Amino acid sequence: MTVLYRGIGELVTNDPSQGDGSALGIIEDAALIVDGDRIIWVGQRTHAPDADQSVDFGESSVIPGFVDSHAHLVFAGERSAEFAARMSGQPYAAGGIATTVAATRAADDAALAGGVERLANELIHGGVTTFETKSGYGLTVVDESRSLQVAAQFTTETTYLGAHVVPQEFRDDRDGYVDLVTGPMLDACAPLARWIDVFCDKGAFDVDETRAILDAGVAAGLTPRLHAGQLGPGGGIQLAVELRAASVDHCTYASDADIDALAAAADTTVATLLPGAEFSTRAMWPDARRFIDAGATVALATDCNPGSSYTTSMPFCIAVAVRDMNFTPAQALWSATSGGAAALRRDDVGVLSVGRRADFVRLDGPSYIHLAYRPGVPLIQDVVTRGRLLPRR
Ligand code: NIG
Ligand code: FE
Repeated sequence: MTVLYRGIGELVTNDPSQGDGSALGIIEDAALIVDGDRIIWVGQRTHAPDADQSVDFGESSVIPGFVDSHAHLVFAGERSAEFAARMSGQPYAAGGIATTVAATRAADDAALAGGVERLANELIHGGVTTFETKSGYGLTVVDESRSLQVAAQFTTETTYLGAHVVPQEFRDDRDGYVDLVTGPMLDACAPLARWIDVFCDKGAFDVDETRAILDAGVAAGLTPRLHAGQLGPGGGIQLAVELRAASVDHCTYASDADIDALAAAADTTVATLLPGAEFSTRAMWPDARRFIDAGATVALATDCNPGSSYTTSMPFCIAVAVRDMNFTPAQALWSATSGGAAALRRDDVGVLSVGRRADFVRLDGPSYIHLAYRPGVPLIQDVVTRGRLLPRR
């Protein structure tokens, strides 16, 4: 059955061959036709062919569904007291992860799945139609593999992050923990994950450890992505480029040489910026202009996790990215949709063109610019995911 979505005042396609010819490929007075979970026609409404059904979007703006390429949804507990302490002057440190690890180990699978379901619902009702999620709060063979089993109930974009931090019980035996992460834990987790990630930063893993862990993951059939440059400068960003990681995330402390390396690798390694983390840890803002002007491919993601960025709101991330990280509204929207798709090496999402997945969002406003212009306002009016219009909450 075909469905015509009409009454689209402004349609962002992310297809530069469409409409105004910009990177966002904006068509005014547009329509879309969907068949099952795919788009079968996009263009100006006056040219739209007939369809079996039609939905009137009342002159709103429509954008591609957001693609959140970085989230940590499998965990138990929360850390609001730690957030309050930070807002009273305490610094953020990787050590807080241990609090969530203890709560996660103590939670049963149903409790973990309930937590992911709640956050996944927030994401989808917030316009996120594709999301990634990581393990990383279990840090034992059993707890990492059950975290990935839970994650796989909600997304195919699952990431093994056994190397989030060295857990307390291995404090005096880091090499022993790296052996576990690259040995029995990897054996248990590789069949459950698409990606392998390491937190390569101060208080977590150094570059040599990261390289050993990612090499083992690649040998087990996983594709690397990396956390690097969040808490300080280091070799993580250039390691990600060298290992052809799909994405290197945070990049807060990227040096000029890191940015040159990312620009040279724009077709393989995406720089993913995470405004929620800078916001919630009151960290320095990375300047997106440095990355974009150099030619790097840039994504925006929520980094939803209970420690450093407890938000599922991509509109919030876009608003902060525009206000404080020097993205233009157009760049921020592209990075939160097509950029996220590139970071997940997906070509079926992030663009509204014939043959792509019918994932799109109707905004309560005439332009996508309102996502940054009207911060904190619930603009996500309707969400179509895999061709299905979600019932409103
Ligand atoms: O991406 N940086 C490492 N991991 C998370 C934070 C985890 C936590 O504090 O619980 C992040 O920001
Ligand atoms: Fe993260």
